[in-house]
Amino acid sequence: MKYGYFDNSRREYVIDRIDVPVSWTNYIGVKDLCGVFSHTAGGYLFYKSPEYHRITRFRPNGVPMDRPGHYVYIRDDETGDYWTLSWQPVGKSPDSARYTCRHGLSYIKYQCEYASIRGEQTLFIPLEDPVEIWDVRLRNDSDRKRRLSVYGYAEFSFHHIQIDNQNFQMSLYASGSSHQDGIIEVDLFYEDGGFQYFTAADANDESGTNEAACFDCLRDAFIGPYRSETNPIAVERGACSGSSELGGNHCGGLRRAVELEPGGETRLLFLLGEGNREAGKAMRAKYGAGTGAFSPVDAAFKALGDFWKEKLEKLQVSTPNEGMNTMLNIWNLYQAEINVLFSRFASFIEVGGRTGLGYRDTSQDAMMIPHSNPEKSRQRLVQLLKGLTTAGYGLHLFNPEWFEKQPVPAFNSPTVVPVPSVSQRIHGIADVCADDALWLIPSIVEYIRETGDFGFADEKYPYADTFDPATGEGMSETVFDHMKRILDFSAREIGPHGICKGLRADWNDCLNLGGGESAMVSFLLHWALTHFCGLARRLGRDVSRYEELTARVRESCERELWNGSWYTRGFTASGRAIGSPDCKEGRVFMESNTWAILSGAASPEHGKAAMDAVDQYLYTPYGLKLCDPAYSEPDDEVGFVTRVYKGLKENAAIFSHPNPWAWAAEAVLGRGDRAMKFYDALCPCGQNDKIEVRKAEPYMYCQFIAGPDHSAFGRAHHPFMTGSAGWSYFAATRYILGIRPGFDSLAVDPCIPPSWPSFSVRRLWRDAVYHVTVKNPHNVSKGVKECRLNGQDVKIGSMGAEIPIQRPGSENQVMVVMGA
Ligand code: NOJ
Repeated sequence: MKYGYFDNSRREYVIDRIDVPVSWTNYIGVKDLCGVFSHTAGGYLFYKSPEYHRITRFRPNGVPMDRPGHYVYIRDDETGDYWTLSWQPVGKSPDSARYTCRHGLSYIKYQCEYASIRGEQTLFIPLEDPVEIWDVRLRNDSDRKRRLSVYGYAEFSFHHIQIDNQNFQMSLYASGSSHQDGIIEVDLFYEDGGFQYFTAADANDESGTNEAACFDCLRDAFIGPYRSETNPIAVERGACSGSSELGGNHCGGLRRAVELEPGGETRLLFLLGEGNREAGKAMRAKYGAGTGAFSPVDAAFKALGDFWKEKLEKLQVSTPNEGMNTMLNIWNLYQAEINVLFSRFASFIEVGGRTGLGYRDTSQDAMMIPHSNPEKSRQRLVQLLKGLTTAGYGLHLFNPEWFEKQPVPAFNSPTVVPVPSVSQRIHGIADVCADDALWLIPSIVEYIRETGDFGFADEKYPYADTFDPATGEGMSETVFDHMKRILDFSAREIGPHGICKGLRADWNDCLNLGGGESAMVSFLLHWALTHFCGLARRLGRDVSRYEELTARVRESCERELWNGSWYTRGFTASGRAIGSPDCKEGRVFMESNTWAILSGAASPEHGKAAMDAVDQYLYTPYGLKLCDPAYSEPDDEVGFVTRVYKGLKENAAIFSHPNPWAWAAEAVLGRGDRAMKFYDALCPCGQNDKIEVRKAEPYMYCQFIAGPDHSAFGRAHHPFMTGSAGWSYFAATRYILGIRPGFDSLAVDPCIPPSWPSFSVRRLWRDAVYHVTVKNPHNVSKGVKECRLNGQDVKIGSMGAEIPIQRPGSENQVMVVMGA
């Protein structure tokens, strides 16, 4: 069953059957102001932090599922009938109204045709200003003049999620609202500079009107007692009440009267933003300039489109697989960028209760987009370097602001939310996740390969446990030294088999091995070492100590983890093997088998056998399960995974994040058919017509899909904010299509299904464009036989063709012929 389709020419997903089974979300904003909204305009807006600075309220896990939101109501002032441009909250029957939602890149369009009025509400945030624009267009498709009231409505929050949800005794009486000059201003009196505004602009009256019938600042006055957003009294009655108060719950409720001749059209704006009334006036003057043409809005919308176009055009592919083209050229990069921008904590699942960066997630996210967003990747890398301790482990979850010089607040709110001291923020070994900081090393190296920013390795940054927020200083060392401390920590923290300890957890949050050992971490250490040594050699530094360590890690992995059939996942503290043929449950795991190959530690024979086991035991038509068989009984030596229901999350669900590791592993092994079989199974757009099973958005990877052990096998959960976003992009572009930046050359080393006759890629690298055409006349999976760059032969190495760096600004034709 389908609910929509991909409109690739506009880079939109179009929902044309609006009653989708769950909220299908999208993000707006690419800098400090951000919103997450559903296909029915439910959602919330925040400034910088969804935990501390939530602008509009959201009732998480509520019924109805996604309220409140940013709504535009239309009332026919002759009949009294009213509706919203988004399907909800009024929810006219889809038999009488036609609703469409177009999810675009950082914008959403809600379209409605009802009672011969065609309406559209576009939500977006201009690149340069912290203001959310609601661009509303109406057209009268009837043959009579229409008198309409148009209302914009949003409910304000008390900023801090704790103060907004748990303790109102200050916020409810120390926040006020007022209306003046057509602008609603909310003053969160308990915060220094805590102001928001809501205003409107239309063709006739740019400064707005002050009539009482045209505004409500109080939520309860706009909605009315014993009512909801479905039937607000202000809309039903056809007039607001001019409410405002010092204290209470506040809203932006503004009404505009509109008259439309037959065929007539109009356009008006609502502006919801960060700052006080003066900021609102400035934004209204900028975007609502009274011509009615709103060309500054059009220009801002176009700039946003250009922003994404420029990013996407850095890597465009044309392959015989349409699903892959749709994902890589549009949605996959978009999702990966959103993860880097907003980390994990703003969605409908995580509703802002946490702020900051998860060490491992951010390290991996930053590795995926250095070509499209080098500045943000670099910023994240620096934040992570500052979140590293001198002991060499990363802080599992931290707020990068902790490691910036802190301004002294003007006053403290009497609603005490204790601020932890610096030492409380630096957790000890008991909370260390053994993999966290290891991810940072390949991320740094990939960033340098992409950008050529070799000087980054010698920049100095302080360590978290030495940082003094009052002075903004701490003990600093180079990035290169930070990397050494990370490697030294992992080399130190090993167990009796010589395999790295699992500690609080490794990548798998639910495998809590403590002093037991984790194959994944040892393989990751091997991977990090090869990246580090490669960089060190390029920089001309002696790292023989780390080269020896690499060999030692490889030997212990092969000796202790190869179990004759596949790679063991680890050992419990008492020495029991996990993920080995003797186990009754949890016999085969994705992480150890894929990472054995990705890390470069496994031999090709063992690697092939390991991935055959992955195919045999973990493959499902919706992607690869994380492990098999699922655990059915609690076993705290193994970890929390044994307390998770079978087929959900880490307990044998189709966990998306490790799936691309399997595509990449198969590509390393040269088995293109297998890599694409796994790719296609997980591909969200491949499930566009299975929404009765999938439920979730078909344009987004989700954190996991219920596995065959669960009654809802195939149902996808947690869209958008997942490490599978970046990894699917990375694995598909770098391993399957095989376009990989090196320190001094661009490698072309594809691994594709033998049936693919050709594919092409446009890749911007170090300011030059490479138009790569790959032909496969001999129907092979892997192997480059010939390569010509602008007509000249190019060296073929063990890693495929090695295209030398070309002049910045140049356009280059690369012709690759595959063959045995
Ligand atoms: C989600 C977490 O964000 C991520 O850090 C972790 O690796 C996966 N769950 C797997 O447990």
